[in-house]
Amino acid sequence: MKIVIVIPTYNEALNIGRLIDSLNEVFKLKPDEDFHILIVDANSPDGTAGVVKQKMDTFGNVHILIEEKKAGLGAAYIAAFKYALQNLSPDVIMEMDADFQHNPDDLMKIVNEIQNGNDYVIGSRFTEGGSIPKDWALYRKILSYGGNLFTKLVLGIYQVNDFTSGFKASRVKNFVDRIDLVSVLSGGFAYKIDLLFKMYKLGAKIKEVPITFGLRDRGDSKMERNNFIDSLRVVLSIRYNENSSFFKFALVGFVGLFVDGGLFNILRLTPLRSSLATPVSGFIAMMTTYLLNNYWSFSDRKIDSINKKLVGFIVYVISSTIPILVRSKLVIIATSAFGDTFFVSNTAFFIGIVFGLVWNFLVYSKIIWRKR
Ligand code: GDD
Ligand code: MN
Repeated sequence: MKIVIVIPTYNEALNIGRLIDSLNEVFKLKPDEDFHILIVDANSPDGTAGVVKQKMDTFGNVHILIEEKKAGLGAAYIAAFKYALQNLSPDVIMEMDADFQHNPDDLMKIVNEIQNGNDYVIGSRFTEGGSIPKDWALYRKILSYGGNLFTKLVLGIYQVNDFTSGFKASRVKNFVDRIDLVSVLSGGFAYKIDLLFKMYKLGAKIKEVPITFGLRDRGDSKMERNNFIDSLRVVLSIRYNENSSFFKFALVGFVGLFVDGGLFNILRLTPLRSSLATPVSGFIAMMTTYLLNNYWSFSDRKIDSINKKLVGFIVYVISSTIPILVRSKLVIIATSAFGDTFFVSNTAFFIGIVFGLVWNFLVYSKIIWRKR
């Protein structure tokens, strides 16, 4: 197996030489594997590239890619992944930091799990046996832990505990080579979350192994300040992209409610009176939401032919009526059983709304605007 370890550097002249030496020692543990190191340097002013080039004279397995300027961790990795795919034909690509916060001795634990048939192996700080520095300030620990929990819940990837670990391995065949690297969200460190999600969607077998995340050896952290906001943006964007039909459908529902209520209160004052105002406003609202759903929420599956439109609309009207009837029934049952108080009637009403939301979305997405 050819394993390429990508190491991004920005002003790591004090660390990178020793790290390359240590790694080459560690590689001897698995003499059958073909290990390579690819440094992606952000044109560091401290001469990091010079140190690497010296090592390239000593070792045949060291490569370097020099960026024009520091462009963020995500940008560096994406450039390095592309370079590796084009020039080194790797079977496995690894990610690792240059500052010894990742212990070279943990490397083989990750490689082992790739050899065991996993496609995406994460050196995890937050699984049993893993750790972050004790000296970290409390707020940093909470942020790190909380951020991971949030990401886990929003993305629904429950087997992962460390979404932003910088120490990991990805299988290339059928995985990295099928990812559109240009589309990766974020040029900062949040790219890790998106890349992980893309691997997950491709059906990668994911495995976490515990690692000890140490203190930085020398130099300062090179991370951008807006990491937190950027990560939040990436997590929410992924969720939105995955469920945009649902979010749009919910918004259309609000618009419908607004049109219905607004028209009702206007028409009520005309000779139509309340009794006729409600079916009219209801029908107009239904037309509006139908059109918005067809041309917006489900625009990728929109109904074009007139006949199908008519049939679609009839099914739409019938199916939208069902949750309204269910809701009325629910309110009647609840209020007659527990009394017609504000709490009882509104609880029943709310349960009805939630039922309607799910019901309508299922009918719309599975029947009327089903994917073809
Ligand atoms: N080429 C390049 N360009 N390299 C960079 C850049 C950049 O813009 N920014 C940072 N690096 C390099 C650093 O030189 C270092 O080798 C590595 O990327 C990680 O940077 P650090 O500055 O040491 O990051 P950290 O210790 O704050 O963050 C670590 O923890 C994060 C999660 O909490 C890293 O492991 C991250 O990968 C991880 O996401
Ligand atoms: Mn670091």
